[in-house]
Amino acid sequence: MSKQKNIIRFILDGKTLEVAFGEKSGISPDISLLHYLRQAGHKSVKEGCGEGDCGACTVVIAETCDGKPVYKAINSCLVLLPMIHGCQIITADSLSEDKDGQAVLHPVQKALVDHHGSQCGYCTPGIVMSMFSLWKSVQHPTESIIKRRLAGNLCRCTGYQPIIDASKQFPATLRQDKFSEQAKETVRSLELIYKEIPSLDIEASGIRYFRPASLKEALKIRRNFSEAVVINGATDIAVQLNKHKIKISSYLDLSGLIELKYSKLQDHSIEFGSCITIEEMGVAVKSKFPALYEMISVFGSHQIRNLATPGGNIGSASPIGDLLPLMIAASARIELQNETKKRSMLLEEFITGYHETRMKPDELITKIIIPLPTNATLIRSYKISRRKDVDISTVSAGFCFELDQEGKLQSAKLVFGGMAAMPVRASAAEKHLLHKSLTRQNIREAAEMVYAEFNPISDARASAESRRLLARNLLISFGEDHNK
Ligand SMILES: Cc1cc2nc3c(=O)[nH]c(=O)nc-3n(C[C@H](O)[C@H](O)[C@H](O)COP(=O)(O)OP(=O)(O)OC[C@H]3O[C@@H](n4cnc5c(N)ncnc54)[C@H](O)[C@@H]3O)c2cc1C
Ligand code: FES
Ligand code: FES
Repeated sequence: MSKQKNIIRFILDGKTLEVAFGEKSGISPDISLLHYLRQAGHKSVKEGCGEGDCGACTVVIAETCDGKPVYKAINSCLVLLPMIHGCQIITADSLSEDKDGQAVLHPVQKALVDHHGSQCGYCTPGIVMSMFSLWKSVQHPTESIIKRRLAGNLCRCTGYQPIIDASKQFPATLRQDKFSEQAKETVRSLELIYKEIPSLDIEASGIRYFRPASLKEALKIRRNFSEAVVINGATDIAVQLNKHKIKISSYLDLSGLIELKYSKLQDHSIEFGSCITIEEMGVAVKSKFPALYEMISVFGSHQIRNLATPGGNIGSASPIGDLLPLMIAASARIELQNETKKRSMLLEEFITGYHETRMKPDELITKIIIPLPTNATLIRSYKISRRKDVDISTVSAGFCFELDQEGKLQSAKLVFGGMAAMPVRASAAEKHLLHKSLTRQNIREAAEMVYAEFNPISDARASAESRRLLARNLLISFGEDHNK
């Protein structure tokens, strides 16, 4: 653990800044990046919802990967300031360049002006930052990529077409800006920050905040401070802080554990470190596991996916965690680790109830291993939400069927989210399908069993009856597609 307590460093406006937490500075370790940036004069960063839904607070962080900066749009309202230790922060205030005493707009800003992409302007800095991250990472964005990248930014008055048009006309050949000119220097400075202060141990404003740089350190902290709340991307926890005003007095932040941010393709499975982002997970599974990729495509927004992790989705054990039904259907396993031991179990066995798991107080989720579909497997995912983007599920499902050479079912797993206190299997329907073919008739019979099998709750999203019908219809819809 670094001896330099209570400070973090990051790059803002081209300079390495050091923030000291405590009474003297008045900055507490649980301040959001959004509020810090506004206090630091970056007033372009707006607060809309404070829960990741509107995108008004979007900023871009640059992290180093293989000696290059990688730019990611994130919701600054969901990020605790210590999480950005060792990153570069770019806001709409940082974009323009000073040339001969004149502020010259960044090409992204100019494109938006040229296409009349702003009216009242409240959403504009957030939209500009989403466009900036797109400009930095995709040479020729198609309309569908642009829409996907802007799905997390709401605009109440301009309408989206001018913004999409502006994003389409980025000059492909002109991807140089002051950030690319300074990239080498930026990477050097970020690496130096990590070299000088690899781990954080902050004790200020009545809060203890650990951000270890290695799993070994993290597990030691977990043993000694088991009451510390584990955060990874913090997209679940930060909403509770901002909206439900929960008080947390100690944190164990895993966002610095580079060793758990990986994906590894094996012969019959794909393995993920629990701290990889959902966005990176999507890139890794796109061709190997389309059903998982489809689910990830409708997971939150680009900004949320750049923060959220599978470790957090599993750790939350929410009945509507979107990755869970499909991963359970695919027989995914997780690995848990404490300082001395590792153990592995099926994800299905790990979740025991409403936000309840078998994790012990000294353990962390370290790995997720998902078997890949084979030629004999049919695997599908479904999500029903009130709107397509940035919405959590009303009902979700993951189906996995294994067929023998005659097309009869050797195994069937039908897993539903939103139907009970935790993701659950429709066991009667599964049993009914066993050793049968996937004909329309057989599937319809099983779908009626799905309807009868669950006793979901009614809430603001849907009544119990709607949920039952939705679950039934998802299976029917699979049957119709399969027998087309
Ligand atoms: C606007 C918005 C949209 C969203 N959309 C979706 C969506 O479409 N689908 C969906 O499923 N979810 C969605 N979510 C919820 C959330 O993003 C996901 O649950 C996400 O996967 C949480 O990951 P995280 O790393 O941010 O979790 P965190 O908030 O960091 O942690 C969540 C929980 O997991 C525990 N935890 C995290 N990592 C570990 C670990 N390695 N070991 C042990 N425990 C751990 C934490 O202690 C905490 O209890 C959304 C959230 C927001 C704010
Ligand atoms: S303030 Fe709405 S997403 Fe952050
Ligand atoms: S320009 Fe007014 S909300 Fe987008």
